[in-house]
Amino acid sequence: MFHSMFPSIVYQDQLISRPQKLTQELLKECFQFAEMDDQGQAWSEKNYPGGFTSYGSLSRLHEQSPTFEALHQHLKKHVGKFAKYLQMDIHPEELKLSALWINIMPQGVTHTMHIHPLSTISGTFYVQTPPGTSAIKFEDPRLVGYMASPPRKAKAHDRNQRFISVQPKAGQVVLFESWMRHEVPANPVEVPRVSISFNFDWC
Ligand code: NI
Repeated sequence: MFHSMFPSIVYQDQLISRPQKLTQELLKECFQFAEMDDQGQAWSEKNYPGGFTSYGSLSRLHEQSPTFEALHQHLKKHVGKFAKYLQMDIHPEELKLSALWINIMPQGVTHTMHIHPLSTISGTFYVQTPPGTSAIKFEDPRLVGYMASPPRKAKAHDRNQRFISVQPKAGQVVLFESWMRHEVPANPVEVPRVSISFNFDWC
């Protein structure tokens, strides 16, 4: 027999059964915030070349917009479900939203490999995902220990891959434990990829 040990779980689901209206409203507000957020534009120029993120400026948007607060309320339910699936020995109320920010990636913009330090569950809600836009790519957390482990076949089953990409659609939420390294490769299409990322902390 084969034992599967220490899997890394990524959660993907539709935010609500009909997410179109909320997603459209969020899309409008994402561009409005981006336009008025001078501090965010300056931060992005330095840290997110070619793109816009409010991570360094407006990172608690649920406190500034009822639309983002509505998103927060829906996200809480998904985070609770994910924590339950992971059998975390905590009450779901102990996971609290600490940051919620906008990412706008026009053509060619990349978000390099990173983790979300000091948080427990992180994720992204997808607002605009034009056909052919980049997926989110996760790295096997054991990679650093592989030494002489041979590469796996290009067509190997997902469970044997070192990197796995998840292709999200607008209206969907993706969640993962905050220690999982991930990146977004360059957006290859002309239409910007727009998303809202967030961190839930254990408190
Ligand atoms: Ni991230």
